[in-house]
Amino acid sequence: MSLIKPVPPERLPELLRRIPKAELHIHIEGSLEPEMIFKLAQRNGVTIPYASVEDLRKAYAFTNLQSFLDIYYAGASVLLKEQDFYDMAWAYLEKAALDNVIRAEIFFDPQTHTARGVSMETVVKGLSRACKEAKAGLGVDAELILCFLRHLSEQEAFETLEAALPFRDHFIGVGLDSSEVGHPPEKFAKVFAKCKELGFRLVAHAGEEGPPEYIWSALDVLKVERIDHGVQSTRDAALMQRLAKDRIPLTVCPLSNQKLKVFPDLKDHSLRKPLDAGLCAMINSDDPAYFGGYMNDNWQATFTALGLDASHAVQLAKNSFEASFCDAAMKRKYADRVSSVVESFH
Ligand code: HPA
Ligand code: ZN
Repeated sequence: MSLIKPVPPERLPELLRRIPKAELHIHIEGSLEPEMIFKLAQRNGVTIPYASVEDLRKAYAFTNLQSFLDIYYAGASVLLKEQDFYDMAWAYLEKAALDNVIRAEIFFDPQTHTARGVSMETVVKGLSRACKEAKAGLGVDAELILCFLRHLSEQEAFETLEAALPFRDHFIGVGLDSSEVGHPPEKFAKVFAKCKELGFRLVAHAGEEGPPEYIWSALDVLKVERIDHGVQSTRDAALMQRLAKDRIPLTVCPLSNQKLKVFPDLKDHSLRKPLDAGLCAMINSDDPAYFGGYMNDNWQATFTALGLDASHAVQLAKNSFEASFCDAAMKRKYADRVSSVVESFH
């Protein structure tokens, strides 16, 4: 890392903007901006219990994960048609491209939609069409990861998997999200075993609000390849050693952690610990429409709060590609792109 030439503080924001990145922790339903919620509500004749965009935005004062999830699921109720899913994904991908996100692995929550009578086909085809077009249209290489809602049963996760299998070419992996505490990873042991057998890549949210034990069981019981959030890992030295030894990536989301009061002051965020320990951690936006910013907003706020520098930027960007589910040749190509942008910056 010390091989990186220093960048003067006044030019650091420009480097952070320009550096190519992978975003590996973004819930597409969390990219639904209030303006689009109102537009889709009108287009689809759906009533929402807010008088205006400003009124809705005012409700985004969260105290914890659950207080956010209640509003997030309500916001998603305006999504009905394939075009709605396409429009939501395209709007995110346009913003990602502006932030120099060149690879995006995007979560979606089909149960939030199928529970309202929207078909799996509608959800997957709308999102997938936007991802496919993003490569040529925006220069973003985008893939989908289907998430099971952990507050629901494993049986319901199995039913969701079965409904999604006719569209298996449209998503590369499965994840686990929603209310964490009280819903440990092992609740989904059988369905993750089935997904592994089917050849899907595996990830899970663990250690956002939940204890380090949930990170251990996501690794040892679910056999996931990446941990989403994982910020509670710093409370367990043996776990930190395990994450280092197996180079398990942590998809950290600083503005999310601030807004959901995991670290109410960004200056207290634990990200420096995994970085100093050489772990494969990187920065992501989680639910950008709700948490105050997209990828580069997360980068800028975190660098300012924690006093990070150009060598951290290179470490975070390279970690993001290493942790992605691209093949080895693409990972090398992306890492080279990071190096060449940094070299030409000077
Ligand atoms: N945690 C858990 N579930 C979620 C999140 C999150 O940060 N965002 C959307 N669903
Ligand atoms: Zn998340």
